[in-house]
Amino acid sequence: MIDIHMHLLYDIDDGPADIQTSTALCAGAENCGVEKIIATPHLLRPGRIDSFIQKRDERLERLKEKIHRAGIRVELYPGAEVFVNDDIFYSRGLAKATLNNGRYILVEFDFHYESPNRLIQYIEELFKLGCIPVIAHPERYTYFQRDYGFVNHLRDMDVLFQLNARSLASLGSRSEFELAYQMALCGTASFIATDTHSARRGTGDMLRMIRRFPGDIRRERLDYMLYLAPQAVLSNQPLPPVRRKRLEKRRLR
Ligand SMILES: [Fe+2]
Repeated sequence: MIDIHMHLLYDIDDGPADIQTSTALCAGAENCGVEKIIATPHLLRPGRIDSFIQKRDERLERLKEKIHRAGIRVELYPGAEVFVNDDIFYSRGLAKATLNNGRYILVEFDFHYESPNRLIQYIEELFKLGCIPVIAHPERYTYFQRDYGFVNHLRDMDVLFQLNARSLASLGSRSEFELAYQMALCGTASFIATDTHSARRGTGDMLRMIRRFPGDIRRERLDYMLYLAPQAVLSNQPLPPVRRKRLEKRRLR
């Protein structure tokens, strides 16, 4: 498996405070069968991208050395989770914060108060910059939970979506689960990742979460979201084609 969203690096965001904890997270991921991880620290101020990249790369190299010495065989790659606001219209070099320096960029927005028009403008700007937006944990946004049609609209614009494993495992709210479940079933989501911040909540335990996923999400669909699509991101290739259905709000029993 490949985890494309993990706050793995120490002393850079609200992830681990020290390199020992980062190392333990790598060991835990390896035990779950995760072979590759994209380290995605929060980039909250796109205007300060250069100092962010410098710090991230330095942490990443140190961690790679440390896990190599410890015999942990997980491959690490650079990335970021970019908080998108009006700054993106003025900040240069946003393309440096993509996943493994390719075209795909992992983005998040305000969870509650983003206007649909503004969000669409952000998406258009990201495409103009040559990036392919991957929206992190769409199931957590209240405006997507209320309006599945908005998610369909963004998907029609070729926006991609990454679900948090925790949501699909029913470890978050009911609304998060319902949206994540529908997006996984309909092929609207392309990725499942852990969004691990620490070892505390057990979110790094991918196997435990997969066991809690609804049984009617087909094995091939899971392989696509946990391996095939993430591998295409790492290689900066187009995602393999997938059959999609329109997302519809259904009341679950
Ligand atoms: Fe995150």
